Amino acid sequence: MTTAIEETLVLVKPDGVARNLTGEILRRIEAKGYSLVDVRMVQADRDLLAQHYAEHEGKPFYEPLMEFMESGPVVAMRVAGNRVIEGFRVLAGATDPTTALPGTIRGDFGRDWGLKVQQNLVHGSDSVESAERELSLWFA
Ligand code: TYD
Ligand code: MG
Repeated sequence: MTTAIEETLVLVKPDGVARNLTGEILRRIEAKGYSLVDVRMVQADRDLLAQHYAEHEGKPFYEPLMEFMESGPVVAMRVAGNRVIEGFRVLAGATDPTTALPGTIRGDFGRDWGLKVQQNLVHGSDSVESAERELSLWFA
């Protein structure tokens, strides 16, 4: 086991904000021992989302994903802790809410209604490089 104090970007997506799950998600983050460093509510525009999801441009779910992410405000959080990048993704669970394990945010609350985009409530950075890039976008 290694020690690595990191920061990650967590987004509560529009479905999570609309369903009043922001507090529940933050509660789980804090209960795990991670610290909230900064937080803001943002109505994201296309430009910000295109930069955030640049790696997915051209994929079949890209357009629906952008429309979903633009559909309402998101809550962006800067979260710190030991190995928090990996640790938050464990709390979040698998991308697909159907297979995300119970006990995870997506497993407990995420919805897959057969839409192209899963309404999976949260985003978490997937690497140190992604975290730095994404935090500079959302907390410019
Ligand atoms: P991805 O970065 O692969 O997942 P994660 O959020 O777990 O890092 O994909 C970004 C988002 O795109 C994902 O949260 C939901 C959406 N998405 C789909 O709608 N369908 C898909 O097949 C994939 C892979 C992602
Ligand atoms: Mg991702």
